[in-house]
Amino acid sequence: MSRIFSGVQPTGNLHLGNYLGAIRNFVRLQDDYECIYCAVDMHAITIWKDPAELRRNIREVAAAYLASGVDPTKSIIFAQSSVPAHAELAWIFNCIVRIGWLNRMTQFKEKAGKNRENASLGLYAYPSLMAADILAYKATHVPVGEDQKQHLELTRDIAQKFNNDYEVEMFPLVEPLILGEATRVMSLRDGSKKMSKSDPSDYSRIVLTDGRDELAKKLRKARTDADPLPEKVEDLADRPEASNLVGIYAALADISKADVLKEYAGSQFSTFKPALTELALEKFGPIGEEMKRLMADPGHVDAILKEGAERANAIAEPIIKEVKETVGFLIP
Ligand code: AMP
Ligand code: TRP
Repeated sequence: MSRIFSGVQPTGNLHLGNYLGAIRNFVRLQDDYECIYCAVDMHAITIWKDPAELRRNIREVAAAYLASGVDPTKSIIFAQSSVPAHAELAWIFNCIVRIGWLNRMTQFKEKAGKNRENASLGLYAYPSLMAADILAYKATHVPVGEDQKQHLELTRDIAQKFNNDYEVEMFPLVEPLILGEATRVMSLRDGSKKMSKSDPSDYSRIVLTDGRDELAKKLRKARTDADPLPEKVEDLADRPEASNLVGIYAALADISKADVLKEYAGSQFSTFKPALTELALEKFGPIGEEMKRLMADPGHVDAILKEGAERANAIAEPIIKEVKETVGFLIP
C-alpha cells in the first residue's frame, strides 16, 4: 500500500518554489493516494521564531494547502507539534542516526553558516525529525522539491539501519516524488541560488499572496541576459536565469520547456516577461485571494488542523507503540 507524507515549514514567505516544487503536487496526488500533509512547526523553531509570527505562519501553511486545492475531506492537514509521535520517534532515530551522516547534510551547512558552533542542536538533528515525520506513518512516497533529496536518502538510511539493528521489517524505504518542470526554482535575482523564504530580498521570490502589481514588478526586475530565447532546451544550459523563467512558465502552463520554446524562440524578455506575468496571475491570483480569505477567519483553519491532528494521531499511535515494543520499552 502507498501512503504519501510531506511537510512545509511555517516560516512565512511561501513562494513559487514551494508551490511548484511541492504543494501543487500534493493536490495532484490526493486523488490516487492516502495523503498526509503537515505544517512542520517543530522544524520551524530550529532557528528562533517569534511565537505570534509562528502561530500565524502555521495557519498560513494550512491556508496555502487549502487554497491550492488540498481537500481536507480526503487528505489529512495538521500541525506537527499536535501529534506526539513525531517527537517520540525522532528521539529513537537520534539514537540510530550516526553523527557522520548528519555532518554531510548540506542544508545544515547552509543554514548554520560560518558560525556552526552557535547553531542549535535542533538544527543539527533536523533530518532525524524529518525521518520521524515520514516514518511515524510508515509513508512510502514523499513529494518534495529537489533540495530535499539528500534528507530523503538519509531517511532511507535510518529506516534500513533500524530494520537491521532490530532485525525487523518495520519501516519502508521511502521514495522521493520530485515532479514537474520546476523542481528547483531559482532566485529571480541570482540564477545560481534557489528561491528561498529567507532571502533578504523580496525581489528574489514571488510569494503566493503577491497581487498583480507586485508580480509584474518582480518579474520586470528579474535578472536575465541580453539574448532572445533560444530554439532548443540545450541552449538554456549556460543561461541559468533564462532557464529558470522558462521552467517556471512550463510548470505553470503544465507543458514542457521544449513546448515553451516552440512558442517563444526568438522572443526578447520584454515580450516573454509580460506573458509570464499574465500566466502567473491566472494560476496564482485565485490562490492568493483564497489564502487571504482563509487567514481572515482562522477559526475555520484551526478546526481543520484539529480534526487533521486527530486523524494523524490515529494512524501514528499504533505505529509508535509497535516501535517502542521493538526497542524494548515497556508499554504500561
Ligand atoms: P521549505 O520552504 O524548506 O519548508 O520547503 C517546503 C517544500 O518546498 C519542500 O518540498 C521543498 O523541497 C520545496 N521547495 C522549497 N524551495 C524550493 C524551490 N526553490 N524550488 C522548488 N521547490 C522548493
Ligand atoms: N525539510 C523540509 C523542507 O525544509 C520540510 C519537511 C519536514 C518535510 N519534514 C518533512 C518534507 C517530511 C517532507 C517530509 O522543506
